[in-house]
Amino acid sequence: MNMQKQLTILGIESSCDETAAAVYTTDQGLLSSVLHSQTALHMPYGGVVPEVASRSHIEKITPIVTEALSTANKKLEDIDVFAVTTKPGLAGSLLVGLCFAKAVAYTQQKPIVAVNHLEGHIASAHLENNIPFPYLCITASGGHTALYLVKNFGDFELIGQTVDDAAGEAFDKIASLIGLEYPGGPLIEKLAQKHNFEDVFHYPRMRKKGLDFSFSGLKTAVLYDLVKRGAYDLATKKILKPHDMLLKEQVASSLLVCVADIFEDRLAQALELYPQVTALSFVGGVACNNYLKERLALFAHKRKKLFFSPSKKYCTDNAAMIAFVGHYKAQKGLFAPLTLEIFE
Ligand code: KG4
Ligand code: ZN
Repeated sequence: MNMQKQLTILGIESSCDETAAAVYTTDQGLLSSVLHSQTALHMPYGGVVPEVASRSHIEKITPIVTEALSTANKKLEDIDVFAVTTKPGLAGSLLVGLCFAKAVAYTQQKPIVAVNHLEGHIASAHLENNIPFPYLCITASGGHTALYLVKNFGDFELIGQTVDDAAGEAFDKIASLIGLEYPGGPLIEKLAQKHNFEDVFHYPRMRKKGLDFSFSGLKTAVLYDLVKRGAYDLATKKILKPHDMLLKEQVASSLLVCVADIFEDRLAQALELYPQVTALSFVGGVACNNYLKERLALFAHKRKKLFFSPSKKYCTDNAAMIAFVGHYKAQKGLFAPLTLEIFE
């Protein structure tokens, strides 16, 4: 018997450079998920510019929410709960989504649920799959890289995280070293594929006991390896052979193998500590990477664990995952007051 209340949730996500909205209902699941990506807007700057991001969110939030509602065939009055990302993220970006959510919740006299963006990423793997608990989740994107023991919906433990750069940030920074555009992750994958994911340069695996990650050392290792090969000038901070495609392919290919090894190493250590887990999941923007996905799927298969990773549209920032978390939190009555602030 289904003891759940029938709820229609509007999820709003604006923590970084995607303005997103989604509608999720108890009986039909996800009805719509729309977003506006600012990637092109930030490309000339080589990274996300906070002020540019907030201004774009202000412009896009109303049309994106309107589209999410109309695609779901819902009106604002049909929404029972407004779920919104409140942390972590860029202050100015988060404020746009939160202020919008507060305003519509107030006018409709309906409650708000505050959603942690990282909980959203964990939940993204549940949008298309039934995952048995407990399981291990690696979440990797441009802003965060962490390992969680997930015990139930909304019940998870952070067991490892990056002590410096995020994995996606490392891809973006190393891509920039070899003269690739932002965001570098997808380009690194394309180049690596051309070199068949071969480990040419054997970058250091930063192997250590413990479940934390460190990617800034990897960036430095790649930098000094390029200098040693006469391919990078430290004085001008420029790649010396900008048209040497083979070198770029070799860097990209070696890098991906290295990062896959690092992920596997942490997962292997975590499995020793938590042998009861039945499955592994891989989420966040970096999980768009098919090579990493396949390596981790094979790793799980060899250890007789199930493996889950969302489709690309749910790996990168989206509001479907926020609406999903909003739904299970609303079922538990975990509402926030209208005095809610960002980072709360
Ligand atoms: O989740 P996301 O869209 O935004 C953040 O919350 O950061 O993740 C973006 C990050 C970027 O660093 C980007 O380079 C990386 O995910 N990324 C990839 C791939 N596609 C996106 N990294 C490796 N391979 C990819 N195919
Ligand atoms: Zn994210």
